[in-house]
Amino acid sequence: MTIDLDDAIAAETKLSHVDGDNGELIILGENLKDIVKLEFEEVLSKLFKNLFHINYTHDEIKVLLAKARKEVFSLYEPNDVFLSEMPIVDAVRTLISKIKDGNDIETAIKLIAAIGVFTAALISKRNHRKLLVPDLNINHATDILRIAGLDYSEIHSTALNTYLVTIIDHGLNASTFTSRVVASTHAGLTSSVIAALSALKGPLHGGAPGPVLDMIDQISSQENALPWLETTLKKGERLMGFGHRIYKVRDPRADALKEALLSLNDSFVVDKNKLNLAYFIEITALDVLKRTKPNRPLHTNVEFYTALLLDSLGFNRADFTAIFAAGRVAGWLAHAREQIMYGRLIRPQSKYIGNLPNNNTMT
Ligand code: ACO
Repeated sequence: MTIDLDDAIAAETKLSHVDGDNGELIILGENLKDIVKLEFEEVLSKLFKNLFHINYTHDEIKVLLAKARKEVFSLYEPNDVFLSEMPIVDAVRTLISKIKDGNDIETAIKLIAAIGVFTAALISKRNHRKLLVPDLNINHATDILRIAGLDYSEIHSTALNTYLVTIIDHGLNASTFTSRVVASTHAGLTSSVIAALSALKGPLHGGAPGPVLDMIDQISSQENALPWLETTLKKGERLMGFGHRIYKVRDPRADALKEALLSLNDSFVVDKNKLNLAYFIEITALDVLKRTKPNRPLHTNVEFYTALLLDSLGFNRADFTAIFAAGRVAGWLAHAREQIMYGRLIRPQSKYIGNLPNNNTMT
């Protein structure tokens, strides 16, 4: 008997479908290729449709999200020493605990605003920049870059918007499942999001892009790529940014992010040498994985290009997971609401393999 949940269906959803054999991601009935062209706020209005007591249009969500950014900003205390000593993703997790638990759309919008604002404000503080108050007149992606003290010109904001939309939802991944488990107990949306963020930060899930950059830095030259990759695999280690539980072919999000990265090509922040090295490493790694793991289809996953895109936008590698959460929070919340509306308490069984009181074991 295999003990895992690989083929178990734990929820019904109208939100997204991951077609791992064909390398397709359907979000709300649309192909990822089409949905990435939309503004984050528009995808939010679609994602939340019929999941709350009220439906908001794209424009209404934009106004509400901007107002929520301003409201949650007051919960951030820049001089909190305790927060300044934590990794940003942990500080964000701590800060969102300040948002009152609830199951309504107001709580949901506040949580989305909060992850973006807290991440950006913490980045600004660590870089000793002046703390900027959220701007009601710009969109979420632009304001995150602006508060973080990064270039928020149109080309950069559009690239970050593409990132936030690309990773907004992705079936029943570990963090989304976590969100649904907590929601199934009716604990509230804040609790769901805190739990999901905790699941996301692990290096096998949303914590991989930082190590992708570490890998590129360690390889450092094209000549070094093949020996480094082969030695790493021989040691039994994994190549970060490759492999996926569901995709048996290339992760379509990798291509969406590569396109966003190419759109930044003429921008001064892009380190072209690093990018060329990364492309070379990707091709070499795919070749080595094919040779050394012939029975496993291992392809580039979303994290490889996440690392390159967020690095080019000026984010520090230690903060990538928090930015991931700034987009994925919308998916966590929509799934939590689906679970509350249509699901029941999630309570699987375990198989006991320990001793019995009479020293017999279970058969
Ligand atoms: N590099 C080398 N070998 C790998 C990799 C990799 N990146 N991924 C899987 N494998 C190998 C495993 O070693 C194993 O080989 P074995 O049978 O010879 O021991 C085999 O492929 C299958 O491994 P599993 O653990 O069953 O694969 P799983 O479906 O659990 O892996 C995962 C999925 C965790 C994403 C894995 O591919 C991995 O660790 N990748 C690197 C980390 C990463 O990029 N994570 C981000 C994923 S995307 C996201 O979550 C947003």
